[in-house]
Amino acid sequence: MNIAQFIPKTQSLKVEKASFTWQTPSNIALVKYWGKSNPQIPKNASISFTLNNCHTITTIDFSKKEANAAVDFDLFFEGKEKEEFKPKIAEFFKRVQEYCPYIFDYKMTINSVNSFPHSSGIASSASGLSAIAMCLMSLEQELNPNLIQEFINKKASFLARLGSGSASRSIEGPLVVWGTHAEVAGSSDLFGVQFPYKIHPFFENYQDAILLVDKGEKQVSSTIGHDLMHEHPFAENRFKQANENVSKMSKILQEGDSKAFINLVESEALTLHAMMLTSNPYFILMKPNTLEIINKIWEFRATQNSAICFTLDAGANVHVLYPQSEKDIVNHFIENVLAGYCQKKQYIYDSVGFGAKKL
Ligand code: DP6
Repeated sequence: MNIAQFIPKTQSLKVEKASFTWQTPSNIALVKYWGKSNPQIPKNASISFTLNNCHTITTIDFSKKEANAAVDFDLFFEGKEKEEFKPKIAEFFKRVQEYCPYIFDYKMTINSVNSFPHSSGIASSASGLSAIAMCLMSLEQELNPNLIQEFINKKASFLARLGSGSASRSIEGPLVVWGTHAEVAGSSDLFGVQFPYKIHPFFENYQDAILLVDKGEKQVSSTIGHDLMHEHPFAENRFKQANENVSKMSKILQEGDSKAFINLVESEALTLHAMMLTSNPYFILMKPNTLEIINKIWEFRATQNSAICFTLDAGANVHVLYPQSEKDIVNHFIENVLAGYCQKKQYIYDSVGFGAKKL
């Protein structure tokens, strides 16, 4: 694995002050990443839809300081200083310092806002860390104007991955693969790549409604969940299956096979949670209403001949996936039936998006 390509070599230009703002999205995995080794290397390939409406907007102001051994940053979230978010970001800077040595030369002021409600149970690490990674790459580009966009995206994904694995899939869109896979050209454990094949029009502008079933703090964090895969009795089979599922998903996305898509996406979601149920210690992140919603979706699919399906991430919320052609009928179903199972009837309409945007 060629990590040397991410260590800057050229003499930097002088930049006294700079400020960059990036909007980067969340993503939802169709084939899940669950299990990793150091440093943030996935045990299997995963593939996700990049989202559009659920995003983070981050500005970083850089001002030159005396270079010393300490990374110096202030962090504001939704306008308020957030000491409690700082350790995660400090850890991120530690992991990327070898690849971004310029962070020692600047005082950084980070201002972040999410488009989705904080503590809605929507993972903000993917959008949050990819936004910081893009801001760092904008500074790097200013220091070295020869960098090309392809390298910038690749390195941003590489940096984001070191903060949170799924964040590597939040730079580009509409579909991103992360993890080395024999059938996905250019794929790597180090960064996400755009799905390299032509996607069937059926999946264009695919819809994702996120039903907020439980907005509370998760009982078991993703970090602990990933760790429990080390001693997991089914881990090796799961990693093998996930890689096979990436092959299957690649074919499905190119051929537009909606039935196979539904089957694979739902099976992946339930397998992810089955891994949690069979970890030791075991844990359950689904809530009773998660299951109620799943049953209602199955009923709706059978009676309406719909291509609606669900997926889950590491929490109780349900992502409802459906083609754009079914938007009216499914949205009606969500508003009239599924919303009743959501906390405070809250849900978010989203659809597939195209990745990071500079503002
Ligand atoms: C269930 O990316 O949050 O959403 O690398 O420890 O930050 P870390 O984990 P994280 O794990 C996401 C797991 C998942 C599945 C997925 O997005 O592929």
